[in-house]
Order: sequence, then C-alpha cells, then structure tokens
Amino acid sequence: MEPDYNILKNMKVLEGVMAPNITTFQLAEIASNYKREFLELGTGSGYITIYLINKGLKGIATEISDKAIECSNNNFNIFNIQLKTIKSDLYSNVEGKYNLIVFNPPTGGNESEFDRKVKNFFRTKLPFIYLLLEKPYFYLNRNKIAKFMINLINETKDHLNPNGVLLVSIPKLDFKYLKTKIVADKFTITNKGENEVSNIIEVKYENSINTS
Ligand SMILES: C[S@@+](CC[C@H](N)C(=O)[O-])C[C@H]1O[C@@H](n2cnc3c(N)ncnc32)[C@H](O)[C@@H]1O
Repeated sequence: MEPDYNILKNMKVLEGVMAPNITTFQLAEIASNYKREFLELGTGSGYITIYLINKGLKGIATEISDKAIECSNNNFNIFNIQLKTIKSDLYSNVEGKYNLIVFNPPTGGNESEFDRKVKNFFRTKLPFIYLLLEKPYFYLNRNKIAKFMINLINETKDHLNPNGVLLVSIPKLDFKYLKTKIVADKFTITNKGENEVSNIIEVKYENSINTS
C-alpha cells in the first residue's frame, strides 16, 4: 500500500497527533473509489480528507481532540483546502446526512485524552515497543473495541442517506469477533481490504440493502 508521498512530504504532524499509517493510506484509497460526498470522523492529521479532496471528492472533517483540530487545520491550509475541522464527539456536533462516512477509529475503543497521549508517546518515541505491544493491546481491549464499534454502527445509521455507507477500519484480531457480536440481519458487513493490523469494512444498513 503506497501512501501519497506528496501529502506526506508536505504535511506536518503535531506532537500528540497520530501520524498517518498503513491503515490511513488504505482507508483513504478505498474511500476514494466511492466518489461520494463524505464525512470523515476523527481526521487526526487530516491525511484522509486531504487525499479525498485532492481526488475531487467533496466533504468535511471532524475531531474530538483540540491538538488534532489544530494539526488538521494547519495541513488543510498547506494544501489550500478551504475547510475547518469541526470539533465533535462522533456525531454530537454534526448535522445532515452523508453518502459516505469514513473513520479510522481509535484502536482502544473510547479513549481518554490521557490514553491518546500515552499511545502517541509509544507510537512516536518507541515505535518498536509499540509494534510489539499493538496486538496484545488489541486483544486485551477487544470488548471495549467491540462496544465502541457497535455504538458507532448504531449511531451512524441516522447520519447516512439511503444507500449511504460507513467505511471503517477495525483491528484485524477483532474482525471475526465483531461479526459474531453484530446483529447480522440489520447490517451487511463487507471486508473491503486488509493489512497486517487492520481490516477495512463497509457497513450497509437495512434501507440501503433493499434499495441498492
Ligand atoms: C486512529 S486515529 C486516526 C487519525 C486519522 N484519521 C488517520 O487515519 O491517520 C483516531 C482519531 O480519532 C479521534 N477520535 C477518537 N475518538 C473520537 C470521537 N469520539 N469523535 C471524533 N474523533 C475521535 C482521535 O483524536 C484520533 O485523531
């Protein structure tokens, strides 16, 4: 999976904000194939939104973390993108309905500011230890992650147009586990791609299944 080197070379990632990784690159590329107006949740550095807008898609971005809002807004400026990241906890501050919602969510489920800081410290300062701990961390957090994902999937339904889809990454270890937890007749979950650590899944809802 090749990143967009033009974006990577020119963007700045502020301390405490997640640097784009293989899941970011893959999610951005898969999302661009939908060619739909999008909402990105948790934009972080802004990579996915910048990638999609550079590909000609229209959309908006949200974030919960003030540092990530500052970081993504700086990066939108660098790429002359007239967009301001909206501060929002999932959909708390988002209006309207979308055709495509994209999210590379936190790998620990509902994380506090402190959790994010600790994780970013390991990720940036001790990447080898982070890599070593990543899978056990997913495993230990799998209940938390499943809960977060189920809540996300339930909440997203009200923010999609008919035929709209949620495109979201989940830790690989949890894909099967999550599938068993989700009520299969309410949603259709399709695996759209994978890398060493994540699956990228598309979630379609009842309405859209009947009409598409
Ligand atoms: C795994 S990072 C992904 C960042 C970026 N989208 C990427 O792919 O590189 C998850 C991001 O979601 C944000 N986030 C976590 N919980 C959130 C919530 N409830 N609502 C909105 N954003 C959230 C975090 O601050 C973080 O920037």
